[in-house]
Amino acid sequence: MIDLFGGEEPNQTTREEMAEGAVILRGFARHLEEDLLAAVREVAQLSPFRRMITPGGHVMSVAMTNCGQAGWVTNRQGYRYDAIDPETGKPWPPMPGSFIALAVSAAAEAGYCKFRPDACLINRYEPGARLSLHQDRNERDLANPIVSVSLGLPTIFQFGGLKRADPIKKYALRHGDVAVWGGPSRLCYHGVPILKDGEHPKVGRARLNLTFRRAL
Ligand code: SIN
Ligand code: FE2
Repeated sequence: MIDLFGGEEPNQTTREEMAEGAVILRGFARHLEEDLLAAVREVAQLSPFRRMITPGGHVMSVAMTNCGQAGWVTNRQGYRYDAIDPETGKPWPPMPGSFIALAVSAAAEAGYCKFRPDACLINRYEPGARLSLHQDRNERDLANPIVSVSLGLPTIFQFGGLKRADPIKKYALRHGDVAVWGGPSRLCYHGVPILKDGEHPKVGRARLNLTFRRAL
């Protein structure tokens, strides 16, 4: 295909339905890669990536930071959203404009026209890191979808049903893909298996995931 827009427009997005209300928009964020990666670096300068502790006392293999009005955090006491970064004692960095625009347009493309994110969890997976099967259920109003942007090394996304034991389907997630799940799929279990080693030309030896939520 000829790139008529010089990489400036989300052209040739193909959709892959995962379940009712859940879709992968292939390559939707690709044209924004430079802005998104620069914005991640700026956020991480103010609120660095860190490996948090689960309520069960395990150190997570995924390194995380946040931006927006609230950030997702975990420690021995449990999971929560907090307006303050516990590492810096300051508010999380504001959500970059490029993040908001992408999250709003991806949600609309998936059929969620009213979505306005107030929190973005940024996950950094290095080879060997994984995120076990879980539901995103700490947000106040579950009418809002989750918008999840993948950058860097490819991975497999495990997407199951409303019960942990439901069958799990597997989807490749590559640089620039955006997954959106909401409505009847909002509480579907999902996870990411161990990241395979590799080197991405723009991101290096890592996968980044931006997960946009309406938390408050
Ligand atoms: C998440 O469930 O928060 C992250 C999913 C992903 O890394 O694709
Ligand atoms: Fe999640």
